[in-house]
Amino acid sequence: MSVTVRAAAKINLHLGVGPVHDDGYHPLATVYQAIGLYDDVTVIEAPEWSVHTMADAHIDVASVPVGATNLALRAGAALAAHHRVDRMARVEIQKGIPVAGGLAGGSADAAATLVALDRLWDLHTSDEDLLAIAATLGSDVPFALLGGTALGTGRGEQVVPVPDATAPWWVVVPHEIGLATPAVYHHFDVLAERGSIVAADPVSPEALLAALAAGDHAALAAALHNDLTPAAYGLRPDLAEREGVLREVGGDVVLLSGSGPTQLLLRPDADSARAAARALTDLGISHLLAPGPVAGCHVVSYA
Ligand code: C5P
Repeated sequence: MSVTVRAAAKINLHLGVGPVHDDGYHPLATVYQAIGLYDDVTVIEAPEWSVHTMADAHIDVASVPVGATNLALRAGAALAAHHRVDRMARVEIQKGIPVAGGLAGGSADAAATLVALDRLWDLHTSDEDLLAIAATLGSDVPFALLGGTALGTGRGEQVVPVPDATAPWWVVVPHEIGLATPAVYHHFDVLAERGSIVAADPVSPEALLAALAAGDHAALAAALHNDLTPAAYGLRPDLAEREGVLREVGGDVVLLSGSGPTQLLLRPDADSARAAARALTDLGISHLLAPGPVAGCHVVSYA
């Protein structure tokens, strides 16, 4: 028997980052949105754990760990431990989410593995327990379960859905060379220490939440914000250069996705997203199109 679960990429419409805590994590006030780029995770009963990653042509899976450190396998082991079951599985990941891009692809795989194994093993784990297990795996994993649009606090793991009447399209511009999330947060600390940026305690982004609730695209565009931008651009000056090119193509709304390096152009509808995409194609810039918000983890097939 096998179960396949689909999980979406996430972006942060707002990423407010506070001063680092002693545990190395930063307090966040963030608004997540799930967008239409997907990984499909299939789990199959097996005598031992294994993970196998396949990818669409535009994705480089070389940096995805194949052993026990793979987040999907850690998710499987955590679920088995929670229920005290001695079962294992083969985990097959079909990646459509770029790797190390600030799109939380690894977190999506972990969340999908939890949901898939819960079904495969008929465990009936409560939503509350799934979210709690997800939080032990990574700050973004609870949101990957949830999908839609949600406010994230704590280190990002405390998630509450928020009303979202917008229906944006995103032109997603990944980069060939990824960025490691810890390195970007570390550089944020360096910049704060130097006084180049101010790491203030993060507060809930009221203007953004109001724009989402009202379905006000212009207000959404004005409210997009990412505190990690100076840190990511500090490590990767090519991103600032690329932002300039993207602004020429897509107007003034360019957003860094999470800790980067993926950059996003906000468009009000599919037609204008396609027009921006054509302009990027003419410039030889690779990109993907994705609507938001979309659903969280859901079963797409049983076999
Ligand atoms: O939670 P997760 O394991 O996904 O986080 C990966 C890394 O990102 C952490 O080790 C930390 O360096 C950084 N991080 C952070 N503050 C957060 C979330 C993540 O510093 N709120």
